[in-house]
Amino acid sequence: MILVTGCAGFIGFHLSIKLLKKNIKVIGIDSLNDYYSKKLKLKRLSILKKNSNFYFSKIDLKNYYNLNSFLKKKKIDKIIHLAAQPGVRVSVKKPFNTLKQNINAFINILEIARSKKVKKFLYASSSSIYGETKIYPFNEDDKENEPISVYGSSKLTNEILSSSYARNFKIKCIGLRFFTVYGPLGRPDMAYYSFLDNLRKNKPITVFNKGLMKRDFTYIDDVVTGIINLMNLKLKENHLVLNIGKGKSDNLMDLVNLLQNNYNKKFKILYSKKIPIGDIKKTFSNTKKAKKFINWKPKVNLKEGIKKFVDWYKIHHGIK
Ligand SMILES: NC(=O)c1ccc[n+]([C@@H]2O[C@H](COP(=O)([O-])OP(=O)(O)OC[C@H]3O[C@@H](n4cnc5c(N)ncnc54)[C@H](O)[C@@H]3O)[C@@H](O)[C@H]2O)c1
Repeated sequence: MILVTGCAGFIGFHLSIKLLKKNIKVIGIDSLNDYYSKKLKLKRLSILKKNSNFYFSKIDLKNYYNLNSFLKKKKIDKIIHLAAQPGVRVSVKKPFNTLKQNINAFINILEIARSKKVKKFLYASSSSIYGETKIYPFNEDDKENEPISVYGSSKLTNEILSSSYARNFKIKCIGLRFFTVYGPLGRPDMAYYSFLDNLRKNKPITVFNKGLMKRDFTYIDDVVTGIINLMNLKLKENHLVLNIGKGKSDNLMDLVNLLQNNYNKKFKILYSKKIPIGDIKKTFSNTKKAKKFINWKPKVNLKEGIKKFVDWYKIHHGIK
């Protein structure tokens, strides 16, 4: 039995679907919070609930008592912990909330991993831990990086705590440093999705740093394959941290062009010189370590991935 936290979230949903397709039993936990459209979370959940191997409980991981009571009699082999408060900008606006969600909840799930003696504990980290480095591509073993947002710091704290738990309690831990994951049923707060919402509603979009931001956009199916390969990996070390990125840094304006070409409508663009507090100008992952450990090579490029996203978006909004 695999425990997936944040199963009604974007990555948790796609991962759970894939595990269920492989006939693996999944226990899913999610608080179904209202950070973004609850309707979308419930839609994902209703798809998961169609499978009889899926067991769901609405629990807030910050409540250790509820979490522990629910899991008390359940046998869990592995935990994939994806529940968190994502988003750099919201962490600047509401740091206390991000820290409670990403640190308090994390300690509780680590304690569950310890008490259940799970075989493996995989958890979501982020490219945000790299901060504004000048060294590209981002390398896992580079110790010079410092997060520049509360969100990035919360994820780096997760890595440090996992490292201690791995060492002290011999839990095999793997930190997954995700890079701008996108795709169907994705997150409405992220640029690729909110830009398209604005296009549909005839609203302008603002591009920061005069449109010169760059991102390592990683398609959801590639991410899920990476997670599953790591879940099955025979790990010698107690703690491993890996970039789960495409290994290519695309221009934000390439994303904008692909969205408008696939949607067949032009954006009204407002260019701002500003760089929002906490935002990194460029993300770019070194994927050598992922290749070495799991022979993982992302397959979907931005052009294909955005087409799949826009196709889904049109159906979702009843657009022909
Ligand atoms: N999507 C990306 O591009 C990206 C990039 C880097 C890191 N990450 C990390 O990957 C993970 C998954 O991201 P996502 O894009 O699927 O986000 P998401 O917001 O879609 O999913 C997270 C889910 O966790 C749930 N949740 C939050 N706090 C909870 C709590 N205390 N108890 C129970 N459930 C709770 C939310 O309701 C949500 O459904 C997160 O940890 C995120 O920080 C994502």
